[in-house]
Amino acid sequence: MNPSLVEKIAKLKRQRNAVILAHNYQIGEVQDIADFTGDSLGLSIQAAKTKADVIVFCGVHFMAETAAILSPSKTVLLPDSHAGCPMADMITAPQLIEFKAKYPGAVVVCYVNSSAEVKAHCDVCCTSANAVEIIKSIDPAKQIIFVPDKYLGSYAAAKTGRDIILWPGYCPTHANITAEDITKLKIIHPDALVLAHPECRQEVVALADKALSTSGMIKFVAASPATEFIIATEQGIIHTLKKQNPQKHFIIASQRAVCPNMKRITLEKILWSLEDMKYKITVDPEIAAKALKSIEKMVSVLPS
Ligand code: 13P
Ligand code: SF4
Repeated sequence: MNPSLVEKIAKLKRQRNAVILAHNYQIGEVQDIADFTGDSLGLSIQAAKTKADVIVFCGVHFMAETAAILSPSKTVLLPDSHAGCPMADMITAPQLIEFKAKYPGAVVVCYVNSSAEVKAHCDVCCTSANAVEIIKSIDPAKQIIFVPDKYLGSYAAAKTGRDIILWPGYCPTHANITAEDITKLKIIHPDALVLAHPECRQEVVALADKALSTSGMIKFVAASPATEFIIATEQGIIHTLKKQNPQKHFIIASQRAVCPNMKRITLEKILWSLEDMKYKITVDPEIAAKALKSIEKMVSVLPS
């Protein structure tokens, strides 16, 4: 870590009355200087309640966009304008409109990993932390469409017994983790608990002791008497897990579980972002108003 860089960021942050929010997949030094680190749900809650004038969002585009929708009077900055989410890009608003037309009356649930335009055409949003609760809250007489993550959607379907119409999107980073990776590691580490993110392939989740959001994993590890864990999600989370649990051992499920978009943000880019007030994330007010309805429903549902 570069101390002068960290000092410059801290000084500018005070001058701008800014808050730095970082996702659990960010590089370690970015997580270390953040005011708040968390999963998508936790970051949305922080973005909604912050008193700061500026939110520096260290994550990917849809997260900063969600913050901008929740806090329209704040300036939301994404330090790298190319930090996107390929899964969110797997469905567009016109595609969703066409899909919805095939299932009139169905309730549309969208994973927060989606664009504001897509959220504007959904009834309720969810994250990996509350997808099951959201599905449970839907009238059993209604059909449910879930977009864009087919793996999170099938996980929620299995957990709730609901029949869910899925869009065939997925996270390329989590798809890199295979069942073979887990079975091989379980042989080498027979006592380790396997924690998998529900964005993983179904056969990976089936091999896990627990399927959890990123912050769910952090909480679970802190409370667990176990000392060894196989972690099936993006590698950035290992930083916080090790920092908070120096006596415990973490094995990443796959060396290929790296999200290149999450890794685009660096301390330098955070400094430039605060210096030049870039890159401002804005959402068309009409789209934002529609998307807000589905996000507000999500924020009001607490993870179990
Ligand atoms: P959570 O941190 O909400 O579990 O989400 C994971 C993810 O892939 C975000 O892009
Ligand atoms: Fe998107 Fe996957 Fe990266 Fe999360 S880990 S931001 S879902 S590509």
